[in-house]
Amino acid sequence: MAARRPPSKAQLRRERMEAAATYPLDWLEERSGLVGGVKYFLFRNVPGDINWMQTLGSATLTAFLVQATTGVILAMYYKPSPHDAYASIQNITDHVTMGWLVRGMHKWGASVFIILMFLHMARVFLFGAYKYPRELNWIVGVLLLTMGMAEGFTGYLLPWDQTAYWASVVGINLNGTAPFLGPWLAQFLRGGQEISGDTLSRFYSIHMLVIPGAIIGLIVLHLYLVIRLGVTSPPWSPEAAGMERPEPASTVRKGLTHPPAAAEPGGSE
Ligand code: HEM
Repeated sequence: MAARRPPSKAQLRRERMEAAATYPLDWLEERSGLVGGVKYFLFRNVPGDINWMQTLGSATLTAFLVQATTGVILAMYYKPSPHDAYASIQNITDHVTMGWLVRGMHKWGASVFIILMFLHMARVFLFGAYKYPRELNWIVGVLLLTMGMAEGFTGYLLPWDQTAYWASVVGINLNGTAPFLGPWLAQFLRGGQEISGDTLSRFYSIHMLVIPGAIIGLIVLHLYLVIRLGVTSPPWSPEAAGMERPEPASTVRKGLTHPPAAAEPGGSE
């Protein structure tokens, strides 16, 4: 039997560099299991015949992240008081470096976010992906839709110009016509008998803290359920919606660096 050749210097150097590069990931994995979780999320199996319409959920997520990022930047310059709000918006648009771009992205991005949510919901509906066992995820989605629209409504008042003011009057009055809770809701939204500086602070707090917090929590739950239940195949697929798909045991090392080997031959996954 031929003797095994000792590893060359270059080989040893590469192995040492590889170990140094993956050390932080292995350190984190050993203490938290987080790397394994992210790896499972990124490299999990999905049906072989999913199509582009199934990227609408991720597109909605991207739109939300853009809103969150641009919103944080705007909040650094916006002043939520009746005296300063309009002027601070003008300052952002006309004087802050790239302020016009960030404000434009946030303003138009709000519509993109809502439109994408509706398109995603339509896809889920048309694919029958709301049926057993995904009813709970549909309910979480409905809450996300409600929160998304409430985010648009509360954000609309913030520029504190005529359009913002009168649109909010109409919106609050509409809420006030709801049976039983309507008058209470209108009073709560106004923070008094009339729209005032109190309404602006209230809308700002709800727009900046309450709703984004709720949306983030709901998205985490939504994605957890997507991962737990798996993604539905299109209705024309030979695979029935909601069918269990057994996953082969992974033989891959713990780090995030190597994706699992290709699926077994013959499988559609
Ligand atoms: C912030 C808003 C939302 C985000 C970020 C989001 C994100 C996602 C993602 C990434 C997926 C997996 C990929 C896909 O199927 O596209 C998904 C699936 C799903 N979403 Fe949403 N979604 C949102 C709103 C909604 C709404 C409004 C509904 C319905 C009322 C909904 C119901 C569902 C259901 C039932 C699934 C599972 C679909 C399947 O298994 O094929 N989602 N969502």
